[in-house]
Amino acid sequence: MSSIDLEITMHAIRFTAYGEPAVLELAEVLVPAPGPGEALVRVAATTFNPVDAALRAGYLQQQFPLALPHIPGIDVSGIVSEVGAGVDRSLVGVAVVAFLPMNAAGAAAEYVLVPANLLVHAPRSVSLVDAAALPSAGLTAWQGLVEHAGVYSGARVLVNGAGGGVGGFAVGLAKHFGAYVLATAGLRSQDAVRAAGADEIIDYTRIPVTEAVREPVDVVINLVRSSATDLIALRDRIADGGVLVSTTTPAEADSGRKVRAGNVFVRCDAQQLTHLVALLDRGVLRLDVSERYALADLPQVHELAARGALRGKTVIQIV
Ligand SMILES: NC(=O)c1ccc[n+]([C@@H]2O[C@H](COP(=O)([O-])OP(=O)(O)OC[C@H]3O[C@@H](n4cnc5c(N)ncnc54)[C@H](OP(=O)(O)O)[C@@H]3O)[C@@H](O)[C@H]2O)c1
Repeated sequence: MSSIDLEITMHAIRFTAYGEPAVLELAEVLVPAPGPGEALVRVAATTFNPVDAALRAGYLQQQFPLALPHIPGIDVSGIVSEVGAGVDRSLVGVAVVAFLPMNAAGAAAEYVLVPANLLVHAPRSVSLVDAAALPSAGLTAWQGLVEHAGVYSGARVLVNGAGGGVGGFAVGLAKHFGAYVLATAGLRSQDAVRAAGADEIIDYTRIPVTEAVREPVDVVINLVRSSATDLIALRDRIADGGVLVSTTTPAEADSGRKVRAGNVFVRCDAQQLTHLVALLDRGVLRLDVSERYALADLPQVHELAARGALRGKTVIQIV
């Protein structure tokens, strides 16, 4: 982009109608101007999240109505390039990360507007591009483990679906809180899940997780889309007084055995994200970036996701 274009247009991936990955198109659109309370961020990277596919397909129109055309991308890392009224000007030039509101214009673009109160200083121990892997997945893991499960030292925690974007953070956080962690992972994800800190790995492609967990666990963090019946079978592996937390299939309590249920609806929380950045910089958490793609490859990334070909965090590099 030339310095003249910089003020006017940018490249972005957007969709003008809901549908298959082919609705995603590379377009030249206007660079937005920050309004009061907003910052304009020059995007270093965004990521792919499963919710992007659901938003694109139109499955979440009730929960998150979008103004079409819509630019996807709920995670952002980048540099603040301009601020609107009421925002501290010293933020300009600062490296930041954020989890964007689900139905706002996203970060699959050269620039994105971010409410300034959602901005958090980027981690220093990883590249700014890879830093985009942290916000939404890290917050989901935190809110699941800390807010819903109330994880504690000595708890036996099962992370079901540890090979994905959220799973590595869930394993790392559970270990940080002193838990003993069992984690499901296929062959392709076992090294990463072990590196995240799992004490035991269950290869779910060889043995059903419900069979593999012999001693009851205190906490299950379920990150896998499963049937209600399968989730109940998993809940049966939880000790009396334990907790089942799900980000996918709705969890229900087993009141007879005092097994609680928690369902995660991840929300932006700059304070929690600041804490996650600190844990990353201290080496408590690690990133599991499996692939980095260019902006123009985003339709292909959605195709790969539909085939179950993605693991870890897939980063979309803009600069
Ligand atoms: N409710 C919320 O607020 C919220 C927020 C974030 C995410 N989510 C949802 O939570 C889920 C996890 O998110 P994510 O970003 O981590 O997804 P992801 O990155 O797409 O997860 C992919 C991973 O799932 C694993 N997997 C697939 N089937 C499995 C099975 N039967 N057993 C164990 N692992 C299996 C695979 O592991 P292997 O590589 O080991 O095969 C793969 O690496 C998604 O469904 C997402 O939509 C919900």
